[in-house]
Amino acid sequence: MNECPWKLACVDCSAEYSGLAVRFRCDCGATLDVVHDLNLLKDGLTLNTFDRRLASKQIWDRSGVWRFSELVLPLDPKEMVTKPEGNTNLYASARLAEYTGIESLLLKHEGENPTASFKDRGMTVGVSMAKKLGMQSVACASTGNTSASMAAYSAQAGLRALVFIPEGKIAYGKLSQALAYGAKTIQIAGDFDIAMQLVEQVCADQGIYLLNSINPFRIEGQKAIGFELLQDLSWEVPDWIVLPGGNLGNSSAISKGLGELETLGLIKKLPRMAVIQAAGANPLYTAFSTDKDLVPVQNADTIATAIKIGNPVSWRKSLRGIAATNGLVEQVSDQEIMDAKAQVDAAGIGAEPASCATVAGAKKLVERGVIKKDEKVCGILTGHLLKDPDAVVGYHKGTLDNIESNFQNAPISVPAELEAVLKAISD
Ligand code: F0G
Repeated sequence: MNECPWKLACVDCSAEYSGLAVRFRCDCGATLDVVHDLNLLKDGLTLNTFDRRLASKQIWDRSGVWRFSELVLPLDPKEMVTKPEGNTNLYASARLAEYTGIESLLLKHEGENPTASFKDRGMTVGVSMAKKLGMQSVACASTGNTSASMAAYSAQAGLRALVFIPEGKIAYGKLSQALAYGAKTIQIAGDFDIAMQLVEQVCADQGIYLLNSINPFRIEGQKAIGFELLQDLSWEVPDWIVLPGGNLGNSSAISKGLGELETLGLIKKLPRMAVIQAAGANPLYTAFSTDKDLVPVQNADTIATAIKIGNPVSWRKSLRGIAATNGLVEQVSDQEIMDAKAQVDAAGIGAEPASCATVAGAKKLVERGVIKKDEKVCGILTGHLLKDPDAVVGYHKGTLDNIESNFQNAPISVPAELEAVLKAISD
């Protein structure tokens, strides 16, 4: 008898595998889902179960991922590698309401996770599974945040960590984290898409556990962004969830989780999901707009290096989730991203460039009449402002290529004299 309460199922064909199989693709080549037996949960699991845990002192209840463990992965608390993660704030801002034209805009700041990005939610589950399966080494390709998170969680778990990053193309905050947490850091002379292909091959050859979001357990953890967001809202479902799309694990995860809540009857409707891509790295936008399979973008390019991805692994899952939520895909230019970022930062919230595609995209969707001004919109800010200080300083100094600093706050240099300082602060 298979004692594992979940199984793995192909997103494309009808193949199924043991929930404890170490595999990341179906024999047909498509990606895999973790499938829970929701019938087992139908009796007994209520939203109150999750709310009660908010008052608990146990680390697994305090985690904004493991608090929802029945829907994420029913591990024994002893098996959980947790810091704990989640419990991120939801911000309102008059400045951003005015900027986007959305009266009720709330931003959930996933940059407030332990390693300062949303990746920690998936990583706590992925690294816990690596331990459970007896793996010694873990690896990922990354535009920076996944590697930072994997390096931290694997250090905590005592696993050997290998990260593959596109050389010179990840933000400094993220590179620093991978080095600091002790991951062996391989800089590939190529882009993320090549690094991703290589890491899949290396993991298959060497028996190393792959912790990109192609790993279906990463997706299970990331579902908790949606669960916690609804819990923050006292389980009132907003009209829209807006988030950036790169490798497309996050949009896949949030829609999967909310779909499961609906299947269980715990919520009565789904929010519409808007996935925002950078115009220079927009394969999902094109696939959605043309109603065709995804065609990879060669040499993807955007200042938002976190989402500089031309061949996203989870595109099928992402499109499935967009369809299930009656959602859509929008694209924004680097100029729109950086101006939105200046506004998010000046609101006192702050986030890295890719995160601010969310706000740029929400603004654009209002201008296009898709999002109505009086609808309730929740945006996800995926990473912390300090992940990419070069983008901030470059914008405010006016030194970024092909970007106008429309909301500039340039530093002022003065001689070390009182008179000069007084003059500088007088206007
Ligand atoms: N925002 C940030 C800050 C990210 O780091 C990423 C992805 C995304 C958005 C896009 O999320 O891939 O689930 O669609 N970063 C990955 C990484 C690719 O390697 O850190 P996605």
